[in-house]
Amino acid sequence: MKVAVLGAAGGIGQALSLLLKTQLPAGSDLALFDIAPVTPGVAVDLSHIPTAVSIKGYGEDGLATALQGADIVLIPAGVPRKPGMDRSDLFNMNAGIIKNLVEACADNCPEACIGIITNPVNTTVAIAAEVLKKKGVYDKNKLFGVTTLDVIRAETFVAELKGKNPADIHVPVIGGHSGTTILPLLSQVEGIEFSQDEIEQLTHRIQNAGTEVVEAKAGGGSATLSMGQAAARFCLSLARAKQGEAVTEYAYVEGDGSDAPFFAQAVKLGKDGVVEILPYGQLSDFEAKAKADMLDGLKGDIQTGIEFANQ
Ligand code: APR
Repeated sequence: MKVAVLGAAGGIGQALSLLLKTQLPAGSDLALFDIAPVTPGVAVDLSHIPTAVSIKGYGEDGLATALQGADIVLIPAGVPRKPGMDRSDLFNMNAGIIKNLVEACADNCPEACIGIITNPVNTTVAIAAEVLKKKGVYDKNKLFGVTTLDVIRAETFVAELKGKNPADIHVPVIGGHSGTTILPLLSQVEGIEFSQDEIEQLTHRIQNAGTEVVEAKAGGGSATLSMGQAAARFCLSLARAKQGEAVTEYAYVEGDGSDAPFFAQAVKLGKDGVVEILPYGQLSDFEAKAKADMLDGLKGDIQTGIEFANQ
């Protein structure tokens, strides 16, 4: 198994790479790429951790080598949010970065599963799909927007409110990965009843959790450690699926288009990526309205990505 992390010297990239160095299956290769000069040093630093995962860092000229033979590519490269910005403000800076990096994936590891972390994910995933289509290597089962952070936040906040262990809580989160496009399905949390007030407050907190971190970091960036953990969980699930285990995760993928061209929901994973997109079941009236209200915005975010890639 070879995993490549693009943007590996950043806040997310380093946290993610640390978790992968300690948790990928023995014998795996971990390639770290970033334009930051510190990147080979990050790899040397991680290489002193005694696990059977080989690690190598690549600077600016090493992108092709980092990608060749990769089974999974994770991309957190880009610029993070500052207070007062929402994820769509990142578009101008990050769209071009994603376009270039995904072109390199198409050229060097066309069969790889790609997980996009760079925001705005609602849009950057659509850019990636268009780039892969133009290169003639698009497989919708192998392109993911990583939305695992929305799920782990929802589970943490529900557990906190109800005095439970987060490991025992399961919250489906569907839609997109920005503001009101993030839709936790609290009506489907087994064994827990919520008042309408609790539903509204939890939904708001989950949708704005990224901003909670941005404001608390006061100009020092956005979520890195929790995002690193979420992306590692997603990557490790994909790695287990590639080794034949039946695994389900939430991710923002191209489905049947009945809600929007890309939509986050539960996906069954196999060795070639998505095996099946699982239906999300009956929504409460509150959730059905929230979904209806968010779809135009989400479709607009996707269209922005398609237009950028084709301009
Ligand atoms: N190729 C490779 N790496 C790049 C490129 C590029 N073209 N452009 C920027 N980078 C690297 C930077 O050098 C930096 O090391 O991406 C890294 C980003 O790290 P941080 O600035 O610490 O940002 P981080 O908090 O990790 O967030 C990155 O993920 O969740 C999203 O919104 C977040 O879009 C942002 C991204």
